[in-house]
Amino acid sequence: MSITELVAAAARAPSSHNTQPWRWVASADGRRIELYADRSQALPVNDPRGRELVISCGAALFALRVAAAQDGTGALVEPFPDADPDHLATVHLTGAPGDEAALYGALAARRTHHGPFVRASITPDTLAALRAAVQTEGACLHVMDALQRDSVAGLVAEGDRVLWCDRGWRRELARWLRTRRSGDGLTVSTAALVPTRFAVAHLDLGRRRGVANARLVEDAPAVVVLGTHEDEPADWLRAGQALERMLLVATAAGLSAAFENQPCEASPALRSRLGAVLHGHVPQMVARLGPSEPARPTPRRRVRVSAGRGAPDPR
Ligand SMILES: Cc1cc2nc3c(=O)[nH]c(=O)nc-3n(C[C@H](O)[C@H](O)[C@H](O)COP(=O)(O)O)c2cc1C
Repeated sequence: MSITELVAAAARAPSSHNTQPWRWVASADGRRIELYADRSQALPVNDPRGRELVISCGAALFALRVAAAQDGTGALVEPFPDADPDHLATVHLTGAPGDEAALYGALAARRTHHGPFVRASITPDTLAALRAAVQTEGACLHVMDALQRDSVAGLVAEGDRVLWCDRGWRRELARWLRTRRSGDGLTVSTAALVPTRFAVAHLDLGRRRGVANARLVEDAPAVVVLGTHEDEPADWLRAGQALERMLLVATAAGLSAAFENQPCEASPALRSRLGAVLHGHVPQMVARLGPSEPARPTPRRRVRVSAGRGAPDPR
């Protein structure tokens, strides 16, 4: 695969509001790819610390590792290689590939699910495989039991109420509602764009959305929370790679994920109440899991790889 093909495969990763907030620079010898945060795609209201931005980049980083492995190449990740906080990783395309190639087929098949799941049960073996996937990347996956699920449902409803009553948050969400042609954002049909943007920007739908989303959490085949030990950018990058590995394992098992991150986004207080459910781990992502029908892929920005200078391989 060419570098452009590797990066196009990485871009299939999920991102908050489909912002695709990553930027790639390849060395002249094609043996190194640098991953940078693209802050022009940031969500300052929804994600003031850039936590979800880095998680999204981490997901793309894992997808790049999968594509490289499929191509027969190792992808050695050096996280935060210098003092630049936006320089998230150097990927050295060298050595033998890891086990990631097995997930290549899931890369293009993965979709974020929206809406309810059909009633189904997820086997303990599958849940164990998802937990192992997350652990391999240095994060932890908590599968909610009935009591914890009730707490999560309540926190999701509260999160919706907090987020939707913030006019700045609604305006930011409205700005990221876009038609398919734009290549990024949350897709809305051309006919629905203006009325949907208007409704989102001007109506506080928090109470209604909160009740509906809490019910989706209560009825989901499984509810999981991905956590990390600390809450620094390096943890977010790790969480993103763990997220994508888990999503690809889920896809290969016929499952998709729907996200309910409101408790992590709405306020530090709600997030720490969710953290109390996780035995001290810091919550990064909340997801419902279940089987779903294949959905149309969401759009992506045109792939761009800038050229950097070559450097000797570290090994
Ligand atoms: C860090 C992060 C946070 C996300 N938060 C939400 C969310 O709260 N609600 C939601 O429906 N989707 C959420 N998503 C999913 C994105 O909306 C989705 O990845 C994007 O629209 C691209 O679609 P795809 O995943 O089907 O390719 C999130 C994804 C990431 C990586």
